[in-house]
Amino acid sequence: FKRLTLFYSFISVALTMHNLTYRFGDDWKKLLELPPKDNRMKTSDVTSTKGNEFEDYCLKRELLMGIFEMGWEKPSPIQEESIPIALSGRDILARAKNGTGKSGAYLIPLLERIDLKKDHIQAIVMVPTRELALQMSQISIQLSKHLGGVKVMATTGGTNLRDDILRLDEIVHVVVATPGRILDLIKKGVAKVDQTQMMVMDEADKLLSQDFVALIEDIISFLPKNRQILLYSATFPISVQKFMSKHLQKPYEINLMEELTLKGITQYYAYVTERQKVHCLNTLFSRLQINQSIIFCNSTQRVELLAKKITQLGYSCFYIHAKMMQEYRNRVFHDFRNGLCRNLVCTDLFTRGIDIQAVNVVINFDFPKNAETYLHRIGRSGRFGHLGLAINLITSDDRYNLKTIEDQLITDIKPIPSSIDKSLYVAEFHSFVKQLKNKP
Ligand SMILES: *[C@@H]1O[C@H](CO)[C@@H](O)[C@H](O)[C@H]1NC(C)=O
Ligand SMILES: *[C@@H]1O[C@H](CO)[C@@H](O)[C@H](O)[C@H]1NC(C)=O
Ligand SMILES: *[C@@H]1O[C@H](CO)[C@@H](O)[C@H](O)[C@H]1NC(C)=O
Ligand SMILES: *[C@@H]1O[C@H](CO)[C@@H](O)[C@H](O)[C@H]1NC(C)=O
Repeated sequence: FKRLTLFYSFISVALTMHNLTYRFGDDWKKLLELPPKDNRMKTSDVTSTKGNEFEDYCLKRELLMGIFEMGWEKPSPIQEESIPIALSGRDILARAKNGTGKSGAYLIPLLERIDLKKDHIQAIVMVPTRELALQMSQISIQLSKHLGGVKVMATTGGTNLRDDILRLDEIVHVVVATPGRILDLIKKGVAKVDQTQMMVMDEADKLLSQDFVALIEDIISFLPKNRQILLYSATFPISVQKFMSKHLQKPYEINLMEELTLKGITQYYAYVTERQKVHCLNTLFSRLQINQSIIFCNSTQRVELLAKKITQLGYSCFYIHAKMMQEYRNRVFHDFRNGLCRNLVCTDLFTRGIDIQAVNVVINFDFPKNAETYLHRIGRSGRFGHLGLAINLITSDDRYNLKTIEDQLITDIKPIPSSIDKSLYVAEFHSFVKQLKNKP
């Protein structure tokens, strides 16, 4: 009985608390001016999260308001990794491309850490171009809209130096800058950075290229010893590694860019005319041992037409393209992933490679125009088995692209042979052969 009472009192406390959190906690959300929802298809760069919420990071309410009003609902993977670590003051070395929420990943902790009681420059965001500087300062201003007076300044080459000097006469908390101009202002004693506790380097691979690296080193020499550096870069060339070991202290490393690879994918091309493509595809269907296939076309219209043709030929197929409703697309893709259909016809929707293991054949019904698209269609990330076949239907218009893409990806796309060795792309066969080979 005692236990039961305890249990009930627990429940009632929980209820009361819940009531309180609701009453005092969530009313502010009703006042937000949210932008319209973005229903475009999202790639795993931004969707494969741990399920955190912005509210999990103990951010100031006013900053949260700015975040939600930007239309950011939940942290993206790079934000989930960066925000708590950056808030803790630790250096970060992150590998991330743009379009993945990178700016939020550093601007949110940066703004959270601004102390409005202090008048000096507290953070520098270094970017390689004027456009990026303007864009980042704009985002900072929007994010900090409710923070009550965070002063953000963009300063880049190609603008009037005198204006910047006058501006720095007033309070500035955050400077978004290209290296040349900010160094100039620091050296003139106009921008005082001896108490700047945080420096962000966006597109660090560019900032540490030969044009800029000396300037960056120079700027850092003016910062206090215990400053925090957050470095975001799409690639990690030697220049970035050198910089890291020299200036970053035990950086927390984030790498969300899985390399797509063509290793283990056997690539062929078949030379055809436009009119022969469907016939050629039919032949491939009848000769290859397809477990699941994805067939790429270059337009919405061609996807629909081809899907119809394939069905007429007597093969099952799904199709998706960019003009379909996102929810519907998701469902089709989900069903395909679950093996409900053998073939999928689509436009370029995958930006991080196809991560469906059961797909052992990819066909470029229309050959892509550039190497990046080719890699995203054909390449696989290291996590999955690399076994697969890629077949490219090449018309005379594609010949030049074929050569360029081969060169750029340093890969070999061979003419299709009359019969294709099954061990190159059929999983059971492959493991069977491997077993045989492993026998003494
Ligand atoms: C919750 O709050 C409402 C008023 O907002 C009140 O009427 C109700 O009794 C509260 N419930 C509990 C369990 O505290
Ligand atoms: C994205 O990043 C790459 C690599 O740093 C850069 O070349 C490109 O201009 C960026 N794109 C945009 C839209 O900022
Ligand atoms: C798609 O491919 C067809 C056939 O190769 C070609 O006629 C058409 O111009 C291409 N469309 C685009 C948008 O590249
Ligand atoms: C073949 O595809 C089905 C789904 O269509 C999948 O369950 C199965 O594992 C795949 N087999 C191989 C060897 O990949």
